[in-house]
Amino acid sequence: MKSSLTRRSFVKATSAGLAGIGFLTAGAKSLYAAATNKSNTLALKGGTPVRGKPFSQTWPIINENDEQALLKALKSRNWCCLRGHAVYDFEKMFAEAMGVPYCYLTNGGTTALSASLSVLDVGPGDEVITTPNTFIATINTITNLHALPVFVDIDPDTGSIDANLIEAAITEHTKAILPVHLAGWPVDIEKIMAISRKRNLPVIEDACQSVYAEVGGKKVGAFGRTGCISFQEYKSLVCGEGGAILGSDDEFMRRCGAFVNNGRDPKQRERGYAFPGSNHRMTEFQAAILTEQFKRFKDQAPLRYENGSYVEQALARIPGLTPRKRYSDKTRITYVQFEMDYDRAAFKNVPAAKFAEALRAENIPMHGGSRRYYSGCHKEKMLQEHLNSSAFQASFSKARLDQYRQSLRFPVMDGEKPAQKDMLSMDSKIPFLGTRKEMDEIIEAVQKVARNIDKLA
Ligand SMILES: Cc1ncc(COP(=O)(O)O)c(C=O)c1O
Repeated sequence: MKSSLTRRSFVKATSAGLAGIGFLTAGAKSLYAAATNKSNTLALKGGTPVRGKPFSQTWPIINENDEQALLKALKSRNWCCLRGHAVYDFEKMFAEAMGVPYCYLTNGGTTALSASLSVLDVGPGDEVITTPNTFIATINTITNLHALPVFVDIDPDTGSIDANLIEAAITEHTKAILPVHLAGWPVDIEKIMAISRKRNLPVIEDACQSVYAEVGGKKVGAFGRTGCISFQEYKSLVCGEGGAILGSDDEFMRRCGAFVNNGRDPKQRERGYAFPGSNHRMTEFQAAILTEQFKRFKDQAPLRYENGSYVEQALARIPGLTPRKRYSDKTRITYVQFEMDYDRAAFKNVPAAKFAEALRAENIPMHGGSRRYYSGCHKEKMLQEHLNSSAFQASFSKARLDQYRQSLRFPVMDGEKPAQKDMLSMDSKIPFLGTRKEMDEIIEAVQKVARNIDKLA
């Protein structure tokens, strides 16, 4: 395959989602023939692991350039963006890379979301439609404004908000829709934007986990009234703590720029405090690191995509493993998280968790389970604290809060619907930066476990 496809043509061939799947089959050897002469005995049962050692855990990746950039910021004595230029330079560069006219940096994804909702004038008595399957930060940004997060159940095939259920959740109090692109996988953003247009409701995209994911050639985060990104250390583009608000609406983004900078109008920074605001500014230190990390990220993202597509397409040939559903065939996932549907029936009823355990023994960091990544924000105690707070009691009638409490049940998210598919998943942010040989080891290990499924049944 390497000889017939350059790296560039490979990326091109695979950039339309899975449309390019066929090319891999050309000339490919039989599925299990890839097994080398390594021991066929599962490492879990005392055999030799396919990989001699685990993948590196080193993250973030740094080199001298990061050190120099940090030192330069330090020595400049302009540590705040009001006097420096690293924050403003990065904003311009990142806006261009994300395909939007405006970007404002913040000190986190949480504050990027908070600022967006504040500028939307979300407040007491309002409702924001969102998902229970997210990191709690998404929900905190709604409840801290004394608005109700109205949860919509998740799609069992993806774990993302089920866009088909959104319209039924809209009421006269709905102020916005806040979908979350989880782990590099876009939500059904085209359907959500159609609802947004039809019902005249703004969308704030939580793209904190999905920088550089795309649908139809457009980056997620560029669809909604704003899109919010996180550069927190566990993400794929990082500076410790940091975030960005992206958008195209001139006046709305002007207010977002002001909001994060204590109300200073970004068009007239020196003159007064025209707009409501707070201080969500990023420091020059963070921006200096981010600038260096972004140079690296621009190489890492296509490499992850190339490796992820290669592994996925090879594994899709194993009966019982299927690529996870994409909502559009023009979806580009980021492969920071690798996932495949796992059909137990094809594997002698061995649960995905057991299959994954065998893979971990082969030094492949796979996990098995369902797409409920989080335990469900609707169940968190903090929500009840908010509902009982004086601010909520003053903002909503007792009947409304009682009815809300009763509504906090979601069959798919709560696992009541057996339709939930198993999946194999791997935090692939670091592994997919590896060599082709390492990708072949991942493939070989999965084939080995599949071949030996009898031993796990
Ligand atoms: C889905 C989601 N939303 C929001 C956030 C908040 O971002 P930050 O930690 O940068 O404030 C995160 C961070 O983990 C997240 O995963």
